[in-house]
Amino acid sequence: MDQMQKEILFPRAAIDEKVKELAALISKDYEGRELIVIGILKGAFIFMADLIRSLSIPCQVDFARIASYGSRSVSSGKVIMMKDIEMSIKGKDILIVEDIVDTGITLSYFVEWLKERNPRSLKVCAFLDKRGRRKVTFEADYVGFTIEDGFVVGYGLDFDEKARFLPDVYIMKE
Ligand code: IMP
Repeated sequence: MDQMQKEILFPRAAIDEKVKELAALISKDYEGRELIVIGILKGAFIFMADLIRSLSIPCQVDFARIASYGSRSVSSGKVIMMKDIEMSIKGKDILIVEDIVDTGITLSYFVEWLKERNPRSLKVCAFLDKRGRRKVTFEADYVGFTIEDGFVVGYGLDFDEKARFLPDVYIMKE
């Protein structure tokens, strides 16, 4: 970890501001309704904790864990559901919260998985959208930051399970 060459990309203050903006937008869109917010573990847990605490509408929370196997920083394209959600989502408004849309494979898979349970509505909020790396077409409904490419860590995002605890977001240098 200490040997990782990285530089700050999104400082904590910019993240806080962005999370508040997203929460205001989501609160407005779901005014008068009650959301079930589903976080994808592990990467989304810090973003989700901040996001739901900035919402002005009530919400319930649940989590799924989806692993995509591959080398440290390259997705294999194979996803496996390690832990499913525990709540019934039939007829409910659902917001999936994810750390990053990269190839788009994880979210495409998870959205289809949840749609089969007939929620009333289903949207996706991603902290970061890596636009240049899609392998499948996927657009999140709410996006915090956008980058073209690169590997980022901190604020819940890891490199080989390291660096999730860092309060800012860093981009790793070659
Ligand atoms: P997908 O390629 O869109 O299926 O993304 C799979 C998962 O890879 C994401 O949910 C992240 O957890 C992880 N991931 C992709 N890019 C990065 C990155 O730059 N840093 C940390 N994790 C990443």
